[in-house]
Amino acid sequence: MSSDALLKFNNKELTLPVITGTEGEIAIDMSRLRADTGAITFDEGYANTGSCKSEVTFIDGEKGILRYRGYPIEQLAEKSNFVETAYLIMNGELPKPHQRARFGRLLSDNAALREGMVRFIQNFPRDAHPMAVLSASLNALGAYYPHLASNNHQQDLEHFDEAAAVAISKVRTIAAHTYRVNMGKPFNYPRPNFGYCENFLHMLFTDPYNEYIAKEEVARALNLFLLLHADHEQNCSTSTVKMVASAGANLFASIASGVCALWGPLHGGANAAVIEMLQHIHDAGDDGTKFIAAAKAGKGQRLMGFGHRVYRNYDPRAKIIKQSFHDALASLGIKNDPLLNIAMKLEEAALNDEYFISRKLYPNVDFYSGLIMRAIGLPTDMFTVMFAIGRMPGWIAQWREIAANPKGRIYRPRQIYTGHTLRDYVPMRERIEAAKRA
Ligand code: CMC
Repeated sequence: MSSDALLKFNNKELTLPVITGTEGEIAIDMSRLRADTGAITFDEGYANTGSCKSEVTFIDGEKGILRYRGYPIEQLAEKSNFVETAYLIMNGELPKPHQRARFGRLLSDNAALREGMVRFIQNFPRDAHPMAVLSASLNALGAYYPHLASNNHQQDLEHFDEAAAVAISKVRTIAAHTYRVNMGKPFNYPRPNFGYCENFLHMLFTDPYNEYIAKEEVARALNLFLLLHADHEQNCSTSTVKMVASAGANLFASIASGVCALWGPLHGGANAAVIEMLQHIHDAGDDGTKFIAAAKAGKGQRLMGFGHRVYRNYDPRAKIIKQSFHDALASLGIKNDPLLNIAMKLEEAALNDEYFISRKLYPNVDFYSGLIMRAIGLPTDMFTVMFAIGRMPGWIAQWREIAANPKGRIYRPRQIYTGHTLRDYVPMRERIEAAKRA
């Protein structure tokens, strides 16, 4: 393959270098384009734009491949767990025993919240959306740990291990406390002798005089859910984290902004939107047939939990989670759930429908993950929070790439301006007169 691309523009020829990644992905380097031609690239939605070089995650959407640091998601899902995978994603290598032990200690030591943070969460209205509380709380963490949030990347990187552990451990405590506030229930303090997911489930569901001990299959399903969400290269929220980080912002400010981006229904909000869609279909007395017909005709809603910007093949995460989803439901004794029945029908219908086949629209991870969260007993507005907890290692690793890049530049795209051309200011009096005349 040629190492250069040739662009002919305004009777000038421009040679553009070609960059190749370790998996053979190719990109045309446009960094000199504006300086040499005065033109910029236009790529709304960034579908053809590589915003950075990254060593964290590889995706081949056509083949349905996802790898963290080179390891296939299928192997990690089968043999690893969320905490070990988080370490891998953030540090680049699987941990040695002493590194794993140290990371575990850091997570345990940082699980509890300062009392001020507890009160901060308590003071939100009871119907506050947990994603709003999560974003605000993660940003507030920076205020409690100023030595980890100096907005001086070099200084922040010196404390990276501690900051990463604070974020990964406390995000779960913040989420559990938020849930307890919204339920009008007392907080549960973390238990240092519990594993990451068991501890989280305990903080969520233990009631006074009724300790919640998670079933193994449920803890495993949660572990897998988090692991499968741990990173997904330059998606909307991760790009947001990197955008904010590129201006020099600290880890906590950057991940808080990632939470905001994730909240949208086209991104992390899709898992909640799936359940809302299933409920809507059920309430309308439909079995999914009418809903699909309306989606195809462009008259109704899209099928939430279907399609993906990058995967034009089955989402590999969806394949894995589908199995654990059946195990978790069986262990919880859930059968004949009307929403589950509609989901299975929708999946079958869409997979055999020409509209979905020709557009390569397959179920994505969110199609099943909402159903798992619901089976565990979480309310719909907590689903995206669970996604955010899973995505934490990815955001942190990608923040680190920005912070550690000595040649890093602020993210600052350009635009094609389509507004008014030059015009003169009209004083209010003249605007009132003009309105009277009209
Ligand atoms: N249901 C029905 N039609 C769809 C759907 C859907 N879920 N998704 C895309 N299409 C159609 C779309 O109408 C268009 O049709 P046409 O060519 O006739 O105009 C065609 O497929 C291509 O769609 P697109 O909007 O160009 O696709 P995109 O790559 O911009 O959007 C997406 C990707 C994920 C936003 C979109 O598929 C979608 O809205 N899906 C539902 C929301 C969802 O499940 N999101 C979670 C994504 S996975 C979690 C994550 O990583 O964030």
